[in-house]
Amino acid sequence: MAALMKSLAGRALKFSLAANFNLNRCGQAPRLCIRSFSTVMSPPSKAIVYEDHGSPDSVTRLVNLPPVEVKETDVCVKMIAAPINPSDINRIEGVYPVRPPVPAVGGYEGVGEVYAVGSKVNGLSPGDWVIPSPPSSGTWQTYVVKEESVWHKIDKACPMEYAATITVNPLTALRMLEDFVNLNSGDSVVQNGATSIVGQCVIQLARLRGISTINLIRDRAGSDEAREQLKALGADEVFSESQLNVKNVKSLLGNLPEPDLGFNCVGGNAASLVLKYLRCSEHLFSCVLLVK
Ligand SMILES: NC(=O)c1ccc[n+]([C@@H]2O[C@H](COP(=O)([O-])OP(=O)(O)OC[C@H]3O[C@@H](n4cnc5c(N)ncnc54)[C@H](OP(=O)(O)O)[C@@H]3O)[C@@H](O)[C@H]2O)c1
Repeated sequence: MAALMKSLAGRALKFSLAANFNLNRCGQAPRLCIRSFSTVMSPPSKAIVYEDHGSPDSVTRLVNLPPVEVKETDVCVKMIAAPINPSDINRIEGVYPVRPPVPAVGGYEGVGEVYAVGSKVNGLSPGDWVIPSPPSSGTWQTYVVKEESVWHKIDKACPMEYAATITVNPLTALRMLEDFVNLNSGDSVVQNGATSIVGQCVIQLARLRGISTINLIRDRAGSDEAREQLKALGADEVFSESQLNVKNVKSLLGNLPEPDLGFNCVGGNAASLVLKYLRCSEHLFSCVLLVK
């Protein structure tokens, strides 16, 4: 990711205010507006944009966008941090099911500080920290202007990197634990790809609910360290795939109950291994998009 950002910065293009660039701050075609003397304007913004889908290295550019009007119900947010989630890459590639029309500004989550508010905004003030919630595209820019309803105020005591990344992976883990099967304290779940951020969130959220986790990881250099890290997060069992070359994988469960719910983000044999653990094979849920 650092290499990507470096390459983008290296190919930065300067656009003048009159540039024929067909985007506003939301990544949509600009609206014509007539300004009065009291109009609040955002500062100019730098944004990472793409006009076509393809490899991020070749289709993204860093551009300067002109100031835009902060309308009555708008909030102008100075972005503090916006992560590169793997799904952001998939959106640029054009392979993610939910994606904005091009041209678009990259990024889907992040945290920012309110810079200016429109005259009818009551719930937010300059200096507040906010996240787009639900997440929405266009966070890879220095100033974002969107309706007040798009922003959710958060406690500034929250570490910046947590605030910037809370809406996609942690909430996915939460919804997977809560929406499919009614789990109670004492139950267990099984997942592959346990080292993923979603997997790590599953481990921590399950632990808070008294739910045990059986975690499968792939065999690779560093898998012993990964196992210890997951245990430190609260994982009950962590198995590498090669450890599961036994006739009855459930014999490895010890005192843990048979899992009621399984998560698969890998596919292939790793998905079969999750299935072998499950009490009911219908309770396997997949969220596979990244692993090629
Ligand atoms: N709302 C949604 O639908 C939603 C939202 C967020 C995420 N997701 C999905 O959740 C999954 C995890 O996302 P994430 O952002 O948390 O991922 P991540 O942090 O990038 O982790 C990727 C995981 O895939 C494993 N992996 C990579 N290549 C592999 C291979 N060839 N064979 C086996 N395992 C491999 C990695 O294991 P190592 O540690 O060994 O490299 C790691 O556990 C993805 O499938 C993503 O699409 C869905």
